[in-house]
Amino acid sequence: MTSPIRTERHGEVLVIISDNPPVNALGAAVRQGLEGAIKEGVADATVEAMVIRCEGRTFFAGADITEFGKPMVEPGLPTVVDMIEASTKPVIAAIHGTALGGGCEVALGCHYRVAVPSAKIGTPEVKLGLLPGAGGTQRLPRIAGVRVALELTAKGDPMPAKKAQEAGLIDRIVGEDSLAADAIAFAREVKAKRPIPRASEREAKPDPEAVAAFQKENARRFRGFDAPAANIACVVKATEAPFAEGIAFERQEFMRLMMGNQSAAQRHIFFAERQAAKIDDVPADTVRRPINRVGVIGAGTMGGGISMNFLSAGIPVTIVEMQQEALDLGTATIRKNYEATAAKGRMKHEQVEAAMAALTPTLDFDALGECDLIIEAVYENMEVKQEIFTRLDTIAKPGAILASNTSYLNIDEIAACTARPQDVVGMHFFSPANVMKLLEVVRGAKTAPDVLATVMDLAKKIRKVAVVAGVTYGFIGNRMLMPRQVEANKLLLEGATPEQIDRVHVAFGMPMGPFQMADLAGVDIGWHRDPNRIENIRDALAAEGRWGQKKQAGFYDYDEKRNPTPSPRVAEIIDEWRAKTDTPQHDVTDEEIIERTLYTMVNEGALILEEGMAQRASDVDVVWIYGYGWPVYRGGPMFWAKTEGYEKVVAGLEKHGFPVARSLKSGTIK
Ligand code: 3HC
Repeated sequence: MTSPIRTERHGEVLVIISDNPPVNALGAAVRQGLEGAIKEGVADATVEAMVIRCEGRTFFAGADITEFGKPMVEPGLPTVVDMIEASTKPVIAAIHGTALGGGCEVALGCHYRVAVPSAKIGTPEVKLGLLPGAGGTQRLPRIAGVRVALELTAKGDPMPAKKAQEAGLIDRIVGEDSLAADAIAFAREVKAKRPIPRASEREAKPDPEAVAAFQKENARRFRGFDAPAANIACVVKATEAPFAEGIAFERQEFMRLMMGNQSAAQRHIFFAERQAAKIDDVPADTVRRPINRVGVIGAGTMGGGISMNFLSAGIPVTIVEMQQEALDLGTATIRKNYEATAAKGRMKHEQVEAAMAALTPTLDFDALGECDLIIEAVYENMEVKQEIFTRLDTIAKPGAILASNTSYLNIDEIAACTARPQDVVGMHFFSPANVMKLLEVVRGAKTAPDVLATVMDLAKKIRKVAVVAGVTYGFIGNRMLMPRQVEANKLLLEGATPEQIDRVHVAFGMPMGPFQMADLAGVDIGWHRDPNRIENIRDALAAEGRWGQKKQAGFYDYDEKRNPTPSPRVAEIIDEWRAKTDTPQHDVTDEEIIERTLYTMVNEGALILEEGMAQRASDVDVVWIYGYGWPVYRGGPMFWAKTEGYEKVVAGLEKHGFPVARSLKSGTIK
């Protein structure tokens, strides 16, 4: 096998080049090649400096995650990084793309770093439940200070080259298209400079205030996760202990995290997210349909949010409404949302204007005739949707993709009213559609493979994580939400309080519990609006105008700042319903809440898989992580069930008399 590492001589400069597509991950062969090349450079008396650079789209994007959990092949990455740093001749990292994780650590082991303007540098290990384990936590604070090291390691977001230069992590920004030559020129400038700057020989100044402030600022973001605290502890250690001691501590913490459930869950999600984009029976090289303009029907909250995704990605949008007033309001809301983003500094003013200029608001339905993809986002009513698709069939151009944003309804029934069911697909965005990362792509019985492939690609372009679902009521996510809701309501009648159920869910790691969610979304959603027809606690709340946060009253009472407190009135209503339904009372334990509201979701997920309504268990996990805020460190419901042990989940379900899905019982979920 040829090595992914080769060397080139440019006079006195040895250039070490990695070519390990797709992202130059630092697998065993790369590490061995690097070790050999550095040895060669050090041993050769005619070499005065070395440059390390990568071919393809990026500098090393990190350790090879697929090797994790397998026996280590020597040399380990820390050894390679130490060896680079120990070189008696200057070594320069030449960075393009993203120098991430182990890639960043290789760069920090180098004595100098040059980068193109578009490059980014970062240590995203924390997002895999880990920490930089090749000296990153010890070298970063020594080069860039505690604050920057904390930002990079504990939050894990990459830093653009310019900012990295200001932080001292990049020595020079070179030409976007002349990295190879500029790095060699830089090497010639520094080849004779002594002493050679080595990060491990520098000191990291303690900064307890920065650490305390950082922890406080990010407390919410870090809630429930193990890795951020470990990253922080390692950075602090760098300011207190000699380098070798810090490295030993880093190693110990890295191994601890690596063996834990959280990192396993987070690594599972990394691959699950990428796997979700693949459709088992649609070849990867399927020719995609060009999408140059998107049409959106409905300028309400959903339609507006959906439009923003495309506008932000530079794809023009035609948005259609029935009434001028609704159209104006929708357009104004889109502008307002963009301007709010700009005010927070997350968007430039020119970008706001460019996005708005790409929007064509109109009352003319026929204008959709020039769109390559048309997404219907009107309210959930089959007749209305069928009427729209019948009309679309007459005006959409041949080959245009016709999508519905329905969150429950049958795509096949919608497709059946067109003469082109092969072009019809579901695109279920989650609210707020411009923020939530999940997109359920609903595959109808007749949806064409190239339609699916096109929509999956487009999802990536608009920065969504797309998951394919089959035609089943509520698709993957909302279908699994149903048993949770049913059980939560029953538990109220049997003796639990909304506070207890929500507390258990929040302690589990969900952003909020079922009743907090109902109050946020609106208790009146889905209500029949007949004050004389009160069939359950929720109807009773809705009939009294307790519609949730917007009315400062729902399952909780709220003050002006929307802080919740338990509601005595709700307790009364629950008591009335307990009496009215003659429900036997018992002490509901937290464990029972988990079993009845979370295990039932796992069970539903297993049924969805058995019915072929999701391609794989990891897709179900992706839906819950990106659509409903399931804690990433538990890896999604199906992964969590495996961690809990299928037997425990089955026993928990059977204890309460639930029929258990076949695949869950036999432990054969895939
Ligand atoms: N190891 C193994 N495979 C990797 C990988 C890695 N570090 N990074 C990406 N890949 C694979 C992906 O799984 C994907 O495979 P597929 O095509 O078979 O699905 C392929 O490379 C392309 O990846 P993306 O689809 O994500 O490509 P993008 O261009 O969208 O993104 C990227 C590129 C920004 C580099 C992104 O892949 C990424 O964020 N990668 C992970 C970076 C990371 O977490 N690095 C730290 C690793 S841990 C570490 O270094 C430990 C050390 O401290 C000891």
